[in-house]
Order: sequence, then structure tokens, then C-alpha cells
Amino acid sequence: MSRLHVVSGKGGTGKTTVAAALALALATEGRRTLLVEVEGRQGIAQVFETEALPYEERKIAVAPGGGEVHALAIDAERALLDYLQMFYKLGSAGRALKKLGAIDFATTIAPGLRDVLLTGKACEAVRRKDKRGKFVYDAIVMDAPPTGRITRFLNVNDEVAGLARIGPIHNQAQAVMRVLKSPETAVHLVTLLEEMPVQETADGVAELRAAGLPVGGTVINMTRPAVLDTGDLDIAARGARTGIAKALAQAGLGGPRRADDHLKAGRREASPAGAVAGDGWADQLIDPLLEQAREHAERVELERVQYAELTGLGLPTYELELLPEGVDLAGLYRLARDLRKQGPI
Ligand SMILES: Nc1ncnc2c1ncn2[C@@H]1O[C@H](COP(=O)(O)OP(=O)(O)OP(=O)(O)O)[C@@H](O)[C@H]1O
Ligand SMILES: [Mg+2]
Repeated sequence: MSRLHVVSGKGGTGKTTVAAALALALATEGRRTLLVEVEGRQGIAQVFETEALPYEERKIAVAPGGGEVHALAIDAERALLDYLQMFYKLGSAGRALKKLGAIDFATTIAPGLRDVLLTGKACEAVRRKDKRGKFVYDAIVMDAPPTGRITRFLNVNDEVAGLARIGPIHNQAQAVMRVLKSPETAVHLVTLLEEMPVQETADGVAELRAAGLPVGGTVINMTRPAVLDTGDLDIAARGARTGIAKALAQAGLGGPRRADDHLKAGRREASPAGAVAGDGWADQLIDPLLEQAREHAERVELERVQYAELTGLGLPTYELELLPEGVDLAGLYRLARDLRKQGPI
């Protein structure tokens, strides 16, 4: 089973939210996960409703059943200092280098090196063991760059090969690639059931596969329940007035009335403002209802096409509902529970 879960997807589809929910889901029942962010945007702190994360692993949430989610916002500069420290024991020399601007070079001029530092830190956490030889984290979840950049971001080996053909940086890149290309890693793509995100997902999967990177599953986020069954959808799509009129009549809302109906009944019947008995006021409901139903039927049909496109990729798919109130902390736990219910990811 994978221990490094990389969460990518089109911008705004819910990568950060899904990564956080996944980290919680994987931490349940006493496990311990590390949720890492690599783009310096403090998205994790936001979803967990806490203050900005420092460059330091810290417990951020307790999962159902007592597990722990730790979080880390990886900073490329700090990761480079760590790295220099590790390989060259350059504590104060590292700080001097920083003053000289060497770090600016590494982080801005050489993006490949920057990425190898970020992924390197995550891979280090994947392999880290305690004194008893047990993994410190059961799983690492990375809130990763979007689909358009994910393959290049993870394929650091190619990027760094041009920079460093031998030496510790080269070895570091090789070690990172060994983890990233192994079954220990799974790259998941978050999508919506809409044309653009689904197209990006299909392109992303093709790119990842071509680069030999292990694709995990697709997470269909913000799904909306279908409110009509197949027969009713058909009626809605055809705009069948009679079907609706019949349903309204059955619900006691239908039918033209005779002028004296309410007099016979001995009371005024509730009717929409402006409607007078006898003008068939259910008619006034039919057109707006038909319009809404037709829109719904259209959306369901578009979603069906996109869903088929996604399942055609041959990957496990997971679904998360659109939470109408947005995702607060309680919502995040709910998404985590929904992910868990759908089996191991
Ligand atoms: N299942 C959901 N139900 C309701 N709202 C959601 C759901 N998933 C995500 N959101 C909301 O959608 C917005 C975008 O989510 P998020 O920030 O996780 O996306 P992202 O892919 O990380 O975006 P970016 O590309 O900017 O990093 C947020 O406001 C989030 O709360
Ligand atoms: Mg995000």
C-alpha cells in the first residue's frame, strides 16, 4: 500500500481540502500522518482553522479513534539549509551562503533544484524511522502543485540531471526518484464533474504514466445529488407538460378549477397571489418547474458524460459531496469519513 499520497488536480477543485481530509482519514485508529504543503500558501493552516504553520512538523489535528495529523509547510530555502547541513555540516557556513545570495540562486534560478529540495523533504519523512526501526509516519500526504505542473515537479531527476551529473545533489535526486516511482507513492487527481477539470485529469494521467510515475485514483469533488430518477429525468429533458401537470394534480396542486369550487367547499383555498379560482393556477407553476427540471436534466447528462470519461481512465474513483455550507472543520471530518467509507485509497 502507498505511504506517500501526492494530491494534485486543476486549480480550485479542492486539492488542499482533499489532501487534508485524506490525511485525517489515513490517521484514524491510532495512525500518524504528515500533511505537507509545498507552495508556501498556508492553505493547510486555513483548512484546519489555525495560525500559519512554521517550517516545523507539528500536530495539527486528532483523528477519530485517536490518530494524529501532523503538518509541515516546506520552505525551499530552509530545506536547502537542512540539506547543506546534512551533507556538508554547513551550519554557520549555510547562513553565510544565504547572506551571499547563493540561496536565491538555488531557489529562483534553478527550479529543478528547488523541486528536488521540496520533494526530497517529503521523501525523507516517508523513510524516517524511530530508534526502534519503526516508521515515524504511517503515511505522508502532499498538497501538491496543480495538474499542469505536477509531472515536472515530481520528475526532478530529469530536471536535476542537467544541473548535477554526479555528487550529492545527483544522488539525492536519484534517491527521491526511487521513492516517487515506487509503489510506495500514489499521485491522486482531484476533479469536478465538468469538462475542463476532467480533460486536465485525463491529460495529467497520460503525462504521469508516460513519466513512469504511479497514478493512484481520481477524487471527484463537490458532487451534487441527482434529485430525479431516470424516468423523471426523461420527462424533464423532454419538457413534458402533461407529466408535470399530472404530478401536480396528484399532489393536490393541479387542475383548472370551476369558479364555484371554493364556495362549495365553504372556504377560501390557498392559491398563489393574483390567481383567481378558475384560471388553473397550477399552470403558473408548470413553466418555472419545467425550466428548472430541464436545467437539472441537462447538468445530469453532462455529468454522466464526464463520469464516463473519468471511469474510462481505469483508475479507482472516490466521490465527495458538495457541502452546501462550505468546508469548516466539522465538514473536513465529514469528508474524511466519506473517504474512509469508500475503502483504502
Ligand atoms: N466538497 C466540498 N464542498 C464544498 N466546498 C468545497 C468542497 N471542497 C472544496 N471546497 C471549497 O472550494 C474552495 C477551493 O478548495 P481548495 O482550496 O481545497 O482548492 P485547491 O484546489 O487547493 O485550490 P488552489 O488551486 O487555489 O490551491 C474552498 O473554498 C473550499 O472550502
Ligand atoms: Mg490549494
